[in-house]
Amino acid sequence: MEFSAFPFGAASIELTGLPLTDEVLDACRSADAVLVGAVGTAHQPTDPAAPRPGQGLLDLRAALGLYANIRPVRAWPALSDMGPYRTETVKDADLVIVRELTGGLYAGTRGLRGTGADRLAFDTCVYTAGEIERVARVAFELARTRAHSRRRPARLTSIDKANVLETSRLWRDVLTALGAAEYPGVRLDHLLVDSGAMALVSTPRRFDVIITENMFGDILSDAAAPISGSLGMMASASLAGSPAEPMTKPLGGLYEPVHGSAPDIAGQGVANPYGAILSAALLLRYGLGLPTEAAALEDAVEGALAAGIRTRDIGGVATTADATRAVLGQLR
Ligand code: IPM
Ligand code: MG
Repeated sequence: MEFSAFPFGAASIELTGLPLTDEVLDACRSADAVLVGAVGTAHQPTDPAAPRPGQGLLDLRAALGLYANIRPVRAWPALSDMGPYRTETVKDADLVIVRELTGGLYAGTRGLRGTGADRLAFDTCVYTAGEIERVARVAFELARTRAHSRRRPARLTSIDKANVLETSRLWRDVLTALGAAEYPGVRLDHLLVDSGAMALVSTPRRFDVIITENMFGDILSDAAAPISGSLGMMASASLAGSPAEPMTKPLGGLYEPVHGSAPDIAGQGVANPYGAILSAALLLRYGLGLPTEAAALEDAVEGALAAGIRTRDIGGVATTADATRAVLGQLR
């Protein structure tokens, strides 16, 4: 493999004033797959018009057409004592959140105008049926694949706010129609996002694959992170296509840990690298079509955890380098 590294987000703003430059976008376009680090910084700009690191991420996802974000949540046996949720509640939880990534509330028209008490701000949530259907397909395919490999019935839960939002009613309609027409073997149910959030943290085992709107997915995936012990354990894949089985072609795409840049521990060498390493495993599986290598890397992380190699956020004293070395040792 050939690797090249580029500044992005806060690092790019420091060098160029922009979170995402054309040069970096071109490099991402011509790469077989992209692995992203956290984009933020401790220094929040006070000027609301200043470039923001996160905007680079939104722009990169949009430019690469990465409409499906896959965020696996897994209760690692070795971390069953970790996190705020009760051990017996999260034990054996194993689910995937599919977050729509290029539409919805984070991609609609935004604005701020006026002065004083008349200052007015708005964000809009817009979806076409086509945008919903293509990400729904990814979720149905994943539900089918996971059911097959785990020898259990395929289940998909769609989370929306159809009692209030028009976009959610369209969402529900498209999901239901696609399920009936093409995925009759997948049991589809719908939950409203408020009660869905509660169910996710109180009965996570009832879920297998979840599909939801962009902002709902952003929030629900952080809320679900403690199931896996820490936000630092969470990996993600952002795809411009569906990982239908059998995987006939590598999907490319972008892979990143779900965590932010953790400015409170910056430069100390103690950040949890497992989320980034698990993102690299997803890159192998979906991006390059190397499922065996992906599983080897995931098993190596599991082995490192079982050997008690824990960074601070998961209750240990290991450094980033210690945890990385432990994974490499397990791989060998
Ligand atoms: C995430 C992040 C980003 C998002 C931010 C940094 C724009 O929170 O990937 O979950 O909301 O998509
Ligand atoms: Mg987020």
